[in-house]
Formats: sequence, structure tokens, C-alpha cells
Amino acid sequence: MRLVEVALAERSYPIYIGQNIWREIPRLWAERLKPGKVLLVSDETVFPLYGRRMVDSLQQAGFAVKSAVVPAGEGSKTLAKADQLYSAAILAGLERRDLLVALGGGVVGDLAGFVAATYLRGVNFAQVPTTLLAQVDSSVGGKTAVNHSLGKNLIGAFYQPKLVWVELDTLVTLPQREYLAGAAEVIKYGVILSEALLNLLAARWQDFLAKEPELLTAVVGDCCALKAAVVAADEREAGLRAILNFGHTLGHALEAATAYGHYLHGEAVLAGMAMAVKLALGKGILSSEDSARLLEVFGRVGLVAPPPALPAADVLAALNRDKKREAGKTVFILPEAIGRVRAFDDLAAEAVRQVLDCYLSGGTAGDLLRLTD
Ligand code: NAD
Ligand code: GLY
Repeated sequence: MRLVEVALAERSYPIYIGQNIWREIPRLWAERLKPGKVLLVSDETVFPLYGRRMVDSLQQAGFAVKSAVVPAGEGSKTLAKADQLYSAAILAGLERRDLLVALGGGVVGDLAGFVAATYLRGVNFAQVPTTLLAQVDSSVGGKTAVNHSLGKNLIGAFYQPKLVWVELDTLVTLPQREYLAGAAEVIKYGVILSEALLNLLAARWQDFLAKEPELLTAVVGDCCALKAAVVAADEREAGLRAILNFGHTLGHALEAATAYGHYLHGEAVLAGMAMAVKLALGKGILSSEDSARLLEVFGRVGLVAPPPALPAADVLAALNRDKKREAGKTVFILPEAIGRVRAFDDLAAEAVRQVLDCYLSGGTAGDLLRLTD
């Protein structure tokens, strides 16, 4: 098992990562958390797979467990679902020192985290992420949110968990498309912070696809350690943390312009990362060697087809509504080398439109932005 610490003074917490570590829950959770009542929040796909195991483990640790299950998918990240969970927490008699546990992907983690942050002005919270995306990204760092009808993740809070438990065993049942969407976020860490991670992935891509346990523990552990360091330096995204948004500026715009119905988040981020590489190349800040290497790695994940007949203007309009805009300017995180990125707010609108047009028209031969084989 690997242990990564998120160093945030009195709000520091451990991330435990390993394969088949269920049996360690009673001992290690009881060390960190005072046994009491638990509300276990999960979704209708994950709960039947891992709910029993989680409940048993928590009971062995001395917790009294009640469960609340929401429908799977982004549609559950609403204030209405949060309200149902408040009711479940009240009916379970959850008090300030009790615990709310999220068992599931980023949707369950964001929703349960938001409820934990707001119920009784904050109760103890633990994350048990079960998608690759949640294990390397959303369960770490304390961003919690629900969606508003006018936009995604608009209502939320920074609220750190007391621990994160990454059971890699759960990835066995994760659909391959979801796994690859999570892989895009893994690659993101390589591009923004660690050439070594990118090299490791490139060298052992088949093992990564086969979920080879030692490799997976190393890769997920590295991602968590990289994110932990960024969060420790800039918990509330005053500066550095924005580098985690690499690929997200155009990625979010693509998701919004397709009403969140076409892409998985990681797929849109992958397309966004590819376009960011092209923007960096066009701006003359990234070498053609590094650009080719990055595009080759992105190509291994496979780029989804561009959405049919989506005008660039729709994506540009979504871009202009992005909550990451600062003083009316769109901020792009662009690579200057593999493992090093910087924020830019001076991209020419025409350059952005060109890479978008290229992507949306299916690209040309040799363009990374094409459907892969
Ligand atoms: P998700 O939670 O919807 O999970 C994807 C699908 O996989 C769901 O249908 C789920 O039921 C299923 N699933 C989960 N684990 C499974 C398993 N082990 N076996 C089989 N099926 C399983 O999606 P996600 O990609 O994990 O998360 C996306 C969400 O995360 C978005 O709402 C996004 O906004 C949020 N997010 C938050 C942060 C953050 O920092 N808080 C970062 C990135 C993304
Ligand atoms: N997923 C981006 C962040 O946590 O800041």
C-alpha cells in the first residue's frame, strides 16, 4: 500500500492507495477517525458492487452505518439531491463529529462532499473513489460542488476530507471508456508536472491498460502525490492550482456546447489538451519534438470523434461563459516543455478559432485531433 499525505496543517490528511486493501479499513480508519455514526453515500451502479463490502468494513471499524444511494450520473449533482441527502443525514441522527463517506466516482464525491461541507456547517468526510478519474483527481484537494441549471459546478465549497481511500480493486468493474477518460487526467499530470510519469506511461501503456497492480499503484500514487503538492501550495486556486486546468478551458467549452451529452469529462479534456498543445506550438513556446511526443501519447488514449456539425461559434460562446475567465479574458494553460506549463491570457481569438475548426472538421492527416485507430 502507498501512503500520500496532503499537507494542509491542521487539515492535513492521508491518501491510502493499493490493490485489495479493503481488509485494512477497520484498522486504519479507526486510527484516523473516531468511530460513531456514518452516512455512506453511493450511486445505483457502485453500491450493488461495493456497498456491502464497505458497510462490513466500516462496521468492523466500529461505525454504525446507514446508506443513501443516488442515481448514477451527472444528473445527481443537484441541490435537490443534496437536499435528499440532508434528510438522510438528519434521519440517521448524524452529528457534527460523525462521518459522511462517498463511495463512487466524481459525481458521488462532489455531491457528498458538498453535503458534508454544509450539513451542520461541516461534518467529517471521507472519500472512497471508484473511478480512475476520481482516484487521481476529484477525490483529492477538497473541491466539492453541485450543478446549477445555468452551469456546471457553480455551487460548491472547498472542503477537505479526513482521508481518501483508493481501492484499486474497484477499477476491475469500471467500463473501459471510463477508464480511458480517467487516463486522460493521468496523462495531464505528466504533461504539467512530470516528464518521468509521462515516460513511464508511454513505456508501459499495455500494462497500464491491463491494470497491472504494481504499475497502477505507482501511477495513481504519483498522480495523487503531484496533486497533493499543488493543493498544499495553493489550496484555493489563487495561482498555481490553475495548472490542473490544463486542457480544461477548451474541454469544458466542448462539454458545455454539447450540453454534457457527448463526451465523458476526460474525453473532452483530452481534446482540450491536444488543442492546447497546438496552440502552444503555434505560439512558438513549445518545440515540435515535444509537441509530437505529446500528441503520440494522447493518441494512445484515442481521441473521440468531434461532435457532429457543431459550429466553432458555439464552442467559442461557451468559452466566453467559462467561470475560469479572469477580468474578461480567457485563461489557457499551455505547455512550454513536457512537465512544465504556464497560464496565458493573451491568445489571439483567431488562433483559438483555427485549432477549434481543425478539430471540429475532423482534422487533416497527421493532425492529432483526429479519431484514432
Ligand atoms: P461518475 O461519478 O459519473 O462515474 C462514472 C460512471 O461510472 C457512473 O455511471 C458510475 O456509476 C460508474 N462507476 C463508478 N465507479 C465504478 C466502478 N468501480 N465500477 C463500475 N462502474 C463504476 O464520473 P467520474 O468521471 O468519476 O466523475 C465526473 C465528475 O467529477 C464530474 O461531475 C466532474 O465535475 C467531477 N470532477 C470533480 C473534480 C474535483 O476536483 N472535485 C475534478 C474532476 C472532476
Ligand atoms: N480538478 C482540478 C482541481 O482540483 O483543482
